[in-house]
Amino acid sequence: MGRLVIVSNRVPDPRERDQPAGGLAVALADVLRDEASSLWFGWSGTQEDFEGDPKVAIDTHNKVTYATIPLTPAQHRGYYQRFSNGILWPLCHYRLGLMNYTQPDWDSYQDVNGMFARALLPLLKPDDTIWVQDYHLFPLAQMLRNLGVTAPVGFFLHIPFPPWSLFRALPPADALLADMAAFDLVGVQTDEDADNLKECLRIEGLDGASRVMACPIGIDPVKFGEEARAAWDGSEVKRLRESMHDEPLIIGVDRLDYSKGLEERFQGYERLLTRYPEHRGHVTYLQVAPVSRGEVEEYRLLRRQLDETIGRINGAFAEFDWTPIRYLTRPVPRQVLAGFYRLADVALVTPLRDGMNLVAKEYIAAQDPENPGALVLSHLAGAAPELTEALLVNPHDADAIADALHQALTMDKAARKRRWTLLDTEVRSTTAGTWSRDFLAALYKAGKARQA
Ligand code: ADP
Ligand code: G6P
Repeated sequence: MGRLVIVSNRVPDPRERDQPAGGLAVALADVLRDEASSLWFGWSGTQEDFEGDPKVAIDTHNKVTYATIPLTPAQHRGYYQRFSNGILWPLCHYRLGLMNYTQPDWDSYQDVNGMFARALLPLLKPDDTIWVQDYHLFPLAQMLRNLGVTAPVGFFLHIPFPPWSLFRALPPADALLADMAAFDLVGVQTDEDADNLKECLRIEGLDGASRVMACPIGIDPVKFGEEARAAWDGSEVKRLRESMHDEPLIIGVDRLDYSKGLEERFQGYERLLTRYPEHRGHVTYLQVAPVSRGEVEEYRLLRRQLDETIGRINGAFAEFDWTPIRYLTRPVPRQVLAGFYRLADVALVTPLRDGMNLVAKEYIAAQDPENPGALVLSHLAGAAPELTEALLVNPHDADAIADALHQALTMDKAARKRRWTLLDTEVRSTTAGTWSRDFLAALYKAGKARQA
């Protein structure tokens, strides 16, 4: 196989110590470390005014060539904030009520995909395999084909794919499904997503045009485990440990996003303090939630709502020497996070819907095998079908969250070890490496079959 070309909207800046929060960038960075040569093309994260097509910036770092383009402020609004994150994101997370469709946003989405295709074209080499990532770029294969590209082009959707009964509510549903059929192979996270997408393609008469494959994403558990051990003696973990005075710590780590079920989760924790008062004055819940997509209205509203909820809970339950919830909205370096996970007795991961959820896998990989913590996980996360030994909960049910937290906080070491050993085996069997290897092998085959 020749060079691997990754295309995604979000491309991390390889020279920044603080990498962006988000599963896509994290998993791909793990994949590209092992590639002999690769190109990662996408948005630079900047906005500027330009006429016609933008200039491509090229930077090579650790064998990966990064090629990025800016967006104009109007494209950033129409394509990124509104169509991708105000329409496709809520729709694919089963939140039709939050979807706010307008035709100009759809036009902008298509224009920017066309611009991506034109900017990428001169960078391509004859033996490349192109792998497009996520919902920002559904139309890209078709646009590349229109420009004469014959290379294998695959797609991976990092977020859920909803059933036809929801997807059809999107005015350009037909056009987007036709776009998906232009890829040689479409990968999704779970069997449920694959079934939903196949059914949509079947109804549109597009089955057979493109293959759909469930291919769950993972992390690099060996590297992450090492980071967690190394972080243990670092100053941040030491400070957190000392501040706990040997009392239990619950951790949550999520982008500040309504799909993560943060409001419901805080209510579940509040219910724990009400129904199991023995934890008052002892347990601490640390929620790390870096602000994400802060320009999008729904995200601004959520931030305000969470400030209020946390203030209310802390106000009602705190003692002068104990605060029930510690809350950070800034990013924390990954290495430090790894140490925080290792220190935490319980991880609380309760998205209302999630493509996969890498935080759950990171928590498992970071544990001390001799004294592992317990994972409370939403049964609506894409990780749930794999991580069945977690304490699975319905994220809408505050009582269920409270019960699971109580069970996690009181579980004896033997039970924690038994569950963790099984979870760890799962996390080690589906990694970023197996994900990309399985997908790319199938893409290679699909590309060959089309060319034959
Ligand atoms: P999503 O892709 O929806 O953000 P995931 O759980 O799959 O959800 O991936 C989130 C990734 O972002 C994880 O690798 C996690 O470690 C990282 N992350 C989340 N919050 C932070 C933070 N505060 N600082 C640094 N990285 C973070
Ligand atoms: C999720 C999406 C990614 C996205 C990330 C961060 O993981 O699947 O495509 O990059 O969130 O969101 P952002 O809008 O900041 O790129």
